[in-house]
Amino acid sequence: MLDRLDQQPPDALLALIKLYEADPRPDKIDLGVGVYRTADGATPVFGAIKAAEQRLIDTQDSKSYLGPEGDMRMVRALEPHIFGKTLPSDGRIDGMQTPGGTGAVRLALALAKKSGVTRVLMGTPSWPNHAQILSDLDMELVGFTHAGADGTADMAALRAALANAGEGDAVLLHGCCHNPSGIDYSHDQWDEIATLVKDSGVLPIIDLAYQGLGHGMEEDAYGVRKVLPAVSEALVAYSCDKNFGLYRDRVGAFYAQGATADDTVRIMSNAAALARANWSMPPDHGGAAVRMILEDEGLTADWLAELEDMRQRIRSVREKLAAASNAGGVNLEPLGRQNGMFAMLPVTKEQVQALREDHGVYMAGSGRINVAGLTTGNIDKFVSALAAVTS
Ligand code: LMR
Repeated sequence: MLDRLDQQPPDALLALIKLYEADPRPDKIDLGVGVYRTADGATPVFGAIKAAEQRLIDTQDSKSYLGPEGDMRMVRALEPHIFGKTLPSDGRIDGMQTPGGTGAVRLALALAKKSGVTRVLMGTPSWPNHAQILSDLDMELVGFTHAGADGTADMAALRAALANAGEGDAVLLHGCCHNPSGIDYSHDQWDEIATLVKDSGVLPIIDLAYQGLGHGMEEDAYGVRKVLPAVSEALVAYSCDKNFGLYRDRVGAFYAQGATADDTVRIMSNAAALARANWSMPPDHGGAAVRMILEDEGLTADWLAELEDMRQRIRSVREKLAAASNAGGVNLEPLGRQNGMFAMLPVTKEQVQALREDHGVYMAGSGRINVAGLTTGNIDKFVSALAAVTS
């Protein structure tokens, strides 16, 4: 029976990790999967995480099961960072831990489906796994153009998509640091989106996977903090994998806002049942380290300082690329106005291949680069290679 299965291609983005590792060229450049890199090209463990892990080793006296909701103290400790210091006390927002941001997205979409949502509006291009999860759940993806020709978010396309949608539909929005384009909604645009979503009756699902890497922890939460108070129901998928550098430890959280506190209790009981059926409970170690940081003022300050250094470095790489202005046929100037780790370059699949094979520059086939993979040591080489394949 199992021989009926069709061969699946490896995940294109994750396959790049192995391709890059197998390349013997010492000056190869990895702009593929979204991990932060220092000016030396390393992806170190945060100092605050190391300190928290040490405390965990010294004090943890059991690894017995928690439950499908995972570490609720971690989930609570994240809330002021996501929703603001004055979380409404009406009991309408609740959450649970998930295996990474992917687990949170999966849970949000599965829950939406269980509530009767069949169509999900989403700006495209988006993170490829969004479409993959929708397809796996047998939900219809209704795409609209995310970025307009002027390099800002295409609000006309979003308005039109919402005008043609209604109750029973959901819209999946990137909270900040849009993956793959780096093109975020401005504050004015979020103000409008909050009203549009409210008026449309569509269920908003906000994927917040890069908080702190755009303009800062508070600034990057603007969209969530604008949309949730405007609507009665909303879901949020959160990742700690990037802003705590925990990637392989898989730390995320799912939050739901119900129309009433009683609704929220029922929503969360369904989320717990879905989690139990999918992964039973999330891995604990990384989440426990996050909790230890967030419950300790000193460690929180250390973590925020490390995150700010990362953000500043990403910003400075973007400024250097923008200052280079042109690389052959590619205008790099817009990258200075974008946010977070990613940017889309207008390159063909053949040019992406030539960059990899002829120059040792690894990037997604879509033309997405992880700007954090660039350093003072390799940025000139990257700009020359880009110019060579696009001139
Ligand atoms: C990325 O987009 O590179 C990251 O979110 C990693 C992943 O899981 O795809």
